[in-house]
Amino acid sequence: MRGRAPAREVERLPVEVHVSAEAASRELAAEIAALMRARAAVGRMAVVGLPTGSSPVFLYRELVRLHREDGLSFANLVTFNLDEYYGLPREHPQSYWRFMHEHLFLHVDSRAEQVHIPDGNVPRARVEEWCRDYERRIVAAGGIDLQVLGIGRTGHIGFNEPGSARNSRTRLVTLDALTRRDAARHFPSETSVPCHAITMGVGTILEAGKIVLLAWGDAKASIVAGAVEGGATEKLPASLLQGHPDVRVLLDRSAAAELTRYRDSRAGER
Ligand code: F6R
Repeated sequence: MRGRAPAREVERLPVEVHVSAEAASRELAAEIAALMRARAAVGRMAVVGLPTGSSPVFLYRELVRLHREDGLSFANLVTFNLDEYYGLPREHPQSYWRFMHEHLFLHVDSRAEQVHIPDGNVPRARVEEWCRDYERRIVAAGGIDLQVLGIGRTGHIGFNEPGSARNSRTRLVTLDALTRRDAARHFPSETSVPCHAITMGVGTILEAGKIVLLAWGDAKASIVAGAVEGGATEKLPASLLQGHPDVRVLLDRSAAAELTRYRDSRAGER
């Protein structure tokens, strides 16, 4: 249409559309490996923030492959996970502690003291103190160099559900009903999905040097379009990434389908 702004100008976050989730994940794994090797070369640690869920599965698979086949050492990687269900024992099949160990840490040369995952079993009376300490540990590690994120269908990053403040910190939160419904496929029933979680805050995430958000599949397409093209609002926490100077959104074609650049090109399709 004449006089109309090119579609990409409506995008408020830098987007990369990849041919597949695997291809995008391979590139991100190579970027993380390069960061680790560059730091190792000068005797320093790399600090990376990590999500769980289906979005980073290919990333962790590729990092394990780089360890096994290319000799990538994790000895100088410090990690901070975004979140953990509150009240699940570590050994529970759905705990994020277990997820991270099964997908990554058991297969590489990370030492336990390099790995930080929110503790979902801190007694209620000590949660706030525990969360403050998590923030202190991030600062003591030198801050997060690269934060990897997924996005939930509520627009959450970490477990910062709609309504989370831009300056929120690590804390105990209540999960949105949609988030619990989406998680129910991994639990025996919806009622067994925990109602609460400990999550890094939006403010904690925004302090990372670099942020990369991953989204695959058509179930994410509309929330991705909202986060990328809508205004920054606490109603859609991923949109708050618009305030960050070094953020990228990696999508496969299905997750990108609702962006204006594709919707416009489909407008003439039959
Ligand atoms: C998990 C996390 C969540 C997920 C999001 C997407 O640690 O922080 O924000 O990234 O719920 O989950 P998947 O990847 O399973 O679609």
